[in-house]
This record gives sequence, C-alpha cells and structure tokens, in this order.
Amino acid sequence: MCDKYVIGYSISEKKRQKFNWNDFYSICESEGFLLKMIDINSDLESQGPFHVFIHKLTDKFAHAENGDQNAKAIISRINEYFCQHPEIIVIDSLDNIKILINRYKSYEILQEHLQLNDVFTPRFIEIKSKSNIDNMSMLKMAGIKFPFICKPLVAQGSNDAHKMMVIFNEQGLNDCLPPCVAQEFINHNAILYKIYIVGEHFHVVERPSFKNFYEEDCTILNTIFFRSHDISKSDSRSKWSILSEEDIPLTVKPKHEILEKIVKKITELFGLLLVGVDVVIENHTGKYAIIDVNIFPGYDSYPNFFEQLITCIKKLSIGQKKSQQHSKIYMLKKCLSDDLDSGFESDEKKKYSIKTNK
Ligand SMILES: Nc1ncnc2c1ncn2[C@@H]1O[C@H](COP(=O)(O)OP(=O)(O)O)[C@@H](O)[C@H]1O
Ligand SMILES: [Mg+2]
Repeated sequence: MCDKYVIGYSISEKKRQKFNWNDFYSICESEGFLLKMIDINSDLESQGPFHVFIHKLTDKFAHAENGDQNAKAIISRINEYFCQHPEIIVIDSLDNIKILINRYKSYEILQEHLQLNDVFTPRFIEIKSKSNIDNMSMLKMAGIKFPFICKPLVAQGSNDAHKMMVIFNEQGLNDCLPPCVAQEFINHNAILYKIYIVGEHFHVVERPSFKNFYEEDCTILNTIFFRSHDISKSDSRSKWSILSEEDIPLTVKPKHEILEKIVKKITELFGLLLVGVDVVIENHTGKYAIIDVNIFPGYDSYPNFFEQLITCIKKLSIGQKKSQQHSKIYMLKKCLSDDLDSGFESDEKKKYSIKTNK
C-alpha cells in the first residue's frame, strides 16, 4: 500500500489535453500526492483508496438528466461509493453540481439568495409550452421585454446545450425550442467578464459579447441564432459584437472589490471549489449581472492553475485532519466524562487516549 495521499481523478481525454494534465502529475508528486486516473465504468472500491476525488462529470449528469440509464447507473454507483467513504474530499460535491446542470434551477438560486448591492441576475422564466399566447403572457407577468435570450434548459452535455437565440419580437417566439429558459437581455457594451474561481482565488478575463440592442431593433431584426462559442471566445469576431460609435463611451471597467464579493457569494451559494461565473456590466446602471455559472470551466487562461488547485487540496486535507482530530478529542473527552460517570477507565479507552494524544 502507498503511504502517499492519493488524488483520484475522472476527467475527459479532451479536457486533460487542454489542461496539459501531465504537468499535474509532477506537481502532485512534488507536493507528496499521488495522482491516479479513475475508471468510473468499473468498480471503484478496487481502484481505491482515494483521499481526494476530482472529477468533471457534467456530461454524465446531463445525459442522466436526459434519461440515459447508463449515465444514471454510473452516477448512482459513484454516489454510493462516496456515501461509503465520507472521508474522501470530493471536488466537487455531486449534489451541488447537479443543480447547475439545469439553468432554471441555478438562476432561481441566484435570484433568491444573491442579495449583493449592485449585483443581480436578469429576470427569467422557463418556457415549457409551444403556445405563443401562453409564453407571451408568462413573459409579461415576469416583466421580461424584448429582446431576450433563449437558452436550453440543460446547460451541459451536448453541443445543443449551447445553441441559443436572441429573440426580438412575438414572431420570434416561434423559434424557441422548449424546454428552455428565457432570460432578459442585458445591454453591456459587448464585453463579457469570465471569472474563473479556484477556492478563494480567482482570475478574470475579458471576452467579446453582444452589442447593445434597443427598442427599434425589435421591429427590424429577426431572431439571431448563435452558439456561445461564436460570440464569446477570445477569437470570436461576430458582427453582433461591433458596438456603435455612440455606445463606446459607455464602457466601464469592473471593480475588483465587487468581483471579489461575487466570487465569495457564488462559492458559498453553490458550495463549489472549481466554478466559473459570467458577468456583464449593465450599461445604463453600472450594475453587475450574473448571466451564467459554470461547473469546472476551462482554466487554460488561469495562471498556475495546478499549483493553486494543489494548494486548495492541501488546505482542505489539513482542515479535514484537524476536524478528525477534533472529533477524536471530542470522543476522548466524552470517554473521559463517561469514565467519570461510570467511575472506571477501560483498557480500550486508555489505548485510545494514548493514540489520540500522540
Ligand atoms: N442575459 C444576457 N444578456 C446579454 N447577453 C447574454 C445574456 N446571457 C448570455 N448572453 C450572451 O450569450 C453568451 C452565452 O450565454 P451563456 O449563458 O454564458 O451560455 P453558455 O452556457 O453556453 O456559456 C454569453 O457569453 C453572452 O455573450
Ligand atoms: Mg457562459
């Protein structure tokens, strides 16, 4: 058996290549950890023990959400394994991840619990029906005006999860593909801020995004069909990102302290260590709108991502050891007080107290 801390991971080949995952092996090694790939399709018990489990299982979750029995079986097997080994540090909790697979649920949490000055999440509704009359009345009730963005309900798992539309008028409602979420369009001067979070640390990058749309656009424009990659990749050059001359002076830079507050709130709310947030700054109010929260985003632009990750893991494992010690001390105190109650100390308890005090 190995006396090193074992970090098990299950990350797709594509993501591993993108991250240059081999570097992580040597960083783990130099920090006293052993990195080991996990095969989630076979028995986990025989591959263990693991002290830490890092995974990107979002696609499996999305497939399970869409009814895939094999994906459901894998997830329930992993869940069961974690239940049998509550000492494993899981990055990140399956229950917390599940929420973010569904855009409606994650927006709902944001809307209910965000409560930060100058930060909001745009109005949204879930579109379930194909009836324009029903949908129009729901949009009105929620106070969502045209244009709005229509996003698939399931946020991960296929290319279709990122196929979206900007809908400008009632006629465009025919383009919605339920189940989806309609989210108010926020004018933000074509700049998106992507926040990459690793525990308490974060890194922000600026990306292109949609130009501002005004009332008159709603009468002249037809639905814009797009994939998020077409608009917001660092090299995206969409015609929809070109700002008009008058809008350029409206651009403002984000305040670090507000981004810090957003990061703290998001990690607390969703209970995740590896998470990304997409933020835009509304042009006429200067308020920060959270438009998307992503599980284990692409950290390729994050400086020293692996070093930061291992620092977090070390912190968590020290915290865990301390809390285990606490519970041992607590148990010891309890034993001692039980002894006082019972008036004698068993050999077993003596042994235990010696072990704990080492
Ligand atoms: N409410 C919004 N208002 C304005 N633009 C938006 C809004 N929501 C999304 N966008 C634009 O659409 C892109 C994709 O939306 P997002 O929810 O981030 O999808 P994905 O999950 O595919 O990243 C964003 O990067 C941004 O450019
Ligand atoms: Mg996004």
